[in-house]
Amino acid sequence: MAINDSRVTIHMAASVDGFIARKDGRVDWLETSDGFAGGDTMDAGSVEAFLKTIDCYVMGSRTYEIALSFGAKGLGWPYGDKPTFVLTSRELPCTRNTVEFYSGDLAQLVNGRLRPTFRTIWFVGGSAVCGECLRLGLADEISLSILPVLIGDGVPFFEKLDRDISLHLAQVKAYKSGMVELRYEVRG
Ligand SMILES: NC(=O)c1ccc[n+]([C@@H]2O[C@H](COP(=O)([O-])OP(=O)(O)OC[C@H]3O[C@@H](n4cnc5c(N)ncnc54)[C@H](OP(=O)(O)O)[C@@H]3O)[C@@H](O)[C@H]2O)c1
Repeated sequence: MAINDSRVTIHMAASVDGFIARKDGRVDWLETSDGFAGGDTMDAGSVEAFLKTIDCYVMGSRTYEIALSFGAKGLGWPYGDKPTFVLTSRELPCTRNTVEFYSGDLAQLVNGRLRPTFRTIWFVGGSAVCGECLRLGLADEISLSILPVLIGDGVPFFEKLDRDISLHLAQVKAYKSGMVELRYEVRG
């Protein structure tokens, strides 16, 4: 596949005040109880169909550890059978053969390895890895799910951005749950 056919999307959910987790890593606030009458509904069938369009996932080790802890609580593995690349310099437990660990240059991983193989590449967190992805100019788009809640403090969206990054708003969708989904193209 030509490198230009691929698309790197950063996707995360955040509070209205721009945090992706509490300082201690908890994401309990993702469960909200708002209602927005004019919103769309998200049925299981369309979510499943959408997830099928994602070819691989990339995440940082701390996000991976949170995903493993969800699995240990019986909440399952959210990334299905899709190849999942976990950035880490440590030896971490590997509970499935779709997980591959990577340490080193993120641009080399994305441009040298992922883009030639996968069309739809999703970065799913956390703040450190998605910040690195933006700083290196590797992302084509950012997809944010904003939850109707303020949590006051926590892990910011993107760690250590060193410059402004212009975006183009490509899509806005509001849901009955009060969640708003924003999709931006990165203009660089
Ligand atoms: N709301 C959401 O949608 C959402 C989504 C994802 C995560 N989260 C939350 O975000 C928090 C985690 O985010 P975070 O920013 O703290 O951490 P993170 O981005 O998940 O992981 C950062 C770690 O990845 C490893 N790493 C990063 N780049 C690397 C590279 N090029 N080579 C080798 N290793 C590399 C390093 O750990 P090592 O020490 O292993 O090398 C680094 O400390 C969690 O609390 C999670 O719940 C929220």
